Amino acid sequence: MKLFRRKPITQVSGDEGESHSLHKVLRVRDLTFFGIAAIIGAGSFSSMGEACFKGGPAVILLFIICGIACGFTALCYAEFASRVPVSGSAYTYAYVSFGELFAWIIGWALLMEYSIGNIYVAFAWSGYFTNLLDGIGMHMPEWLTTNYHNAHNASLGNIPGEGLTAWNIAPQVSGLRIIFDLPAFLINVIITALVYVGVRESRNVSNAMVMIKLAIILLVIFVGVFYVDISNWTPFMPNGFGGVMGGVAAVFFAYIGFDAVSTLAEETPNPRHDLPKGMINSLIICTAAYIILSLVLTGMVSYRQLGVSDPLAEVFKIKGVKWMLFVVSIAAVVAMSSVMLVFQMGQPRIWMSMSRDGLLPKKFASIHPKYKTPGFATIVTGLVVAIPIFFTDEKFVLDFTSIATLFAFVLVCGGVLMLPRKPEDEFQGRFQLIYINSKWLMPALIIGIFSVLWYADSSLITNYLDVNSENAAEKIPMLIFFILCIVMAALSFFKNLSLIPVLGLLSCCYLLTGMTLSNWKWFFSWLLIGLVLYFSYSYKNSKLNKKPGNISA
Ligand code: ALA
Repeated sequence: MKLFRRKPITQVSGDEGESHSLHKVLRVRDLTFFGIAAIIGAGSFSSMGEACFKGGPAVILLFIICGIACGFTALCYAEFASRVPVSGSAYTYAYVSFGELFAWIIGWALLMEYSIGNIYVAFAWSGYFTNLLDGIGMHMPEWLTTNYHNAHNASLGNIPGEGLTAWNIAPQVSGLRIIFDLPAFLINVIITALVYVGVRESRNVSNAMVMIKLAIILLVIFVGVFYVDISNWTPFMPNGFGGVMGGVAAVFFAYIGFDAVSTLAEETPNPRHDLPKGMINSLIICTAAYIILSLVLTGMVSYRQLGVSDPLAEVFKIKGVKWMLFVVSIAAVVAMSSVMLVFQMGQPRIWMSMSRDGLLPKKFASIHPKYKTPGFATIVTGLVVAIPIFFTDEKFVLDFTSIATLFAFVLVCGGVLMLPRKPEDEFQGRFQLIYINSKWLMPALIIGIFSVLWYADSSLITNYLDVNSENAAEKIPMLIFFILCIVMAALSFFKNLSLIPVLGLLSCCYLLTGMTLSNWKWFFSWLLIGLVLYFSYSYKNSKLNKKPGNISA
């Protein structure tokens, strides 16, 4: 069927010829740094607070679960990156495994990860930046540091705080209050300009920022350890496992970013070897940092005190360590700038790949003659981040980003299962995902987990089967997950599937079950818009449409 026409891997690799115009300057160390630059940011400095508040000290379990899910996914990304070493990340990978329609859907979902994710980071950046300014006695008026949505909600609920102040003091034009987050907007303009002028400059800035943020995270851990009081770790799971899973969007957001490394394939001289290493190294370093950090935070104060947007600063405020407040705010500003830099680099490169395939107008693939960057796509990315800054709020973009990214991860793991296996000698010098036959292991694992749950507390399973209860709709995702587990166990048995991608797929699907129904509704509406665009433009203009000989499915 034409909707599922696939781009042959050979042809994708052949596209590398077109990539001579990008600078090839990134090595394993740079890629690892890029990964860390993209991972540690608003998730650890901001959204982690909400997750700790909901889950209590047991949030560490969520960090471990997300780390494992991302670990499996990173290995799948690495496998793809070694086989299909061109820009485009999961989009390109889906094109060779699932076909064009899925590739488009992934490209569309990644737009949320990179661009919409950056909106959240920009808001969080602004929060810490204004703290810093306040610290040196420069106060910006609230109507220039909060978003309209928050201020409006605060006025409706008469909730005291920055939002209500902004609403009350904002200047008005024809009855409309002027309220927007100026620092969030400005940082986006600066980052867009930096990415526009070139990858070499961006790399140097990014590497410096990573060094600073790693040093400060270590300092936070080192200083924080002295204030840990283990009595804060009890109760360990105050709101049950449901409370822990309530923080899934926030914790998963903290891990997003390692995959951005795969968008830099064309700026890497040896992508088949270096990309996988860069991705995996950065994920390992960040997972370790997160686990220790969440232990220290929940040990320093009661989890109830962590439900704030700047938890790392809050714990030191509570403990009266004033000098750390300043240090943490600087680290947050630096860390989040580097996240924005990497995401703002990733998005145009995905569009560049889509444009080369004919799915987007040609302009998106144009390379700036002097700076050798995808100039037009970079500017459009800047606009896609800047405009919603005036209309959205943090919570909405956080949930949206996490659900879309998980969705993309599921397809990447599924895509690896669809790749043909290659003889060992074809992989010389390249990364290769280790093949472990899941024939017996997967069915045994699924039966084992279900049996343990059944014997521990059978309601853990039967609760989801009671579709007549009041909140039946909320149970649907978990029910689908149970069915998926059984289907994957059966497929593993009959098709000898590779274990790692199967585990990656299931663990990411499990995290998806933690998303609320309203998130799903927004996500499907977004997908619908994407499909309308695909059928009205991309389907007709696809290069594969013009070369029927390339259709392999
Ligand atoms: N992981 C990135 C962050 O936390 C998106 O900012």
